[in-house]
Amino acid sequence: MVDTPWTRRHVLSLADFTAAELETVVQTAVSFREVLSRRTRKVPALQGVVVTNMFFEPSTRTRSSFELAAKRLSADVINFSPGTSSLSKGETILDTAKTYLAMGTNLMVIRHQEAGVPMAIATEMDRLKTGVGVLNGGDGLHAHPSQALLDLFTLGLTLNPDNPSSSLLVGKKVAIVGDILHSRVARSNLWSLTACGAEVHLAAPPTLLPPGFGQAFVDQCPLGIPRSITQHSTLTPALEGADFVMTLRLQKERMTQHLLPSLREYHQGFGITRDRIASCQPTVKVLHPGPVNRGVEISSDLMDDPRFSLISEQVTSGVAVRMALLYLMGFGQAGDRLETANVGVGL
Ligand code: NCD
Repeated sequence: MVDTPWTRRHVLSLADFTAAELETVVQTAVSFREVLSRRTRKVPALQGVVVTNMFFEPSTRTRSSFELAAKRLSADVINFSPGTSSLSKGETILDTAKTYLAMGTNLMVIRHQEAGVPMAIATEMDRLKTGVGVLNGGDGLHAHPSQALLDLFTLGLTLNPDNPSSSLLVGKKVAIVGDILHSRVARSNLWSLTACGAEVHLAAPPTLLPPGFGQAFVDQCPLGIPRSITQHSTLTPALEGADFVMTLRLQKERMTQHLLPSLREYHQGFGITRDRIASCQPTVKVLHPGPVNRGVEISSDLMDDPRFSLISEQVTSGVAVRMALLYLMGFGQAGDRLETANVGVGL
């Protein structure tokens, strides 16, 4: 049962999310996960609401996951692709957003290679008093809130499948390994995991994790809550006793910037293998947001081993978590549908 009221029109970052709000998302996703396990995997919660996916950057799972989530909530979905759009005729992004606004869009999911684009569109939507909600589907190196929320849900579900909760993360050791400097997934996870009381350990070569990175996060925390972040330049101390290991895609473009000697050497120092996780908790589980470079961030056999890998679970949970986000954000739009929304969702 969710008792913290949802007050956000937009979800652009998790930096100022409280533990209670994170738990609201998790508990709402629990209800939708149950919906997804039924024979009729659909609820009428967002009937008549228009969700527009505006992905200016390539994406496989995030875009499809948002599309399926919106459809499972009975929303009408528009998918925008920059390649075939008027952007190539010189239209600005804000004008594109206003075009979809004029078509009656209520919720926009925006991914862009530049940090700040979802925020700029949200600001414009507010300035125009549209009531449109903007959800950040990943912007530059800044944030990827829905990924971190699905990671949080996956962790809570793993810790107690019968009663998943973000509160179960208190005191759990989560190692985040890899290209942290260039990862919006890591940044968003840092906010959510630490807000829930997890002890986060970062491990990467110094070129991908500059000294003071973790401390800078703690220092800029807008909520003033204690956050536990420890950083390491080798893998061993991060893995020791870890409950979860979160690996990140090694962005191959970093090679050309000479931040790494070679993928092979990276794997030798920071690749997650069966041998390496032997120092973690016996129940350790490994996550990866995808897309994975097999044999680089994580050994191929470990990635495919369901005893350790949560990668498929992350994708499955992603739909329920994105349904939860769209539902919570769309609720204001669909205020008069409150009754309908409650039917079959169990909130
Ligand atoms: C991530 C992204 O795009 O930020 N992937 C995803 O959304 N599943 C991670 C990545 O591309 O490395």
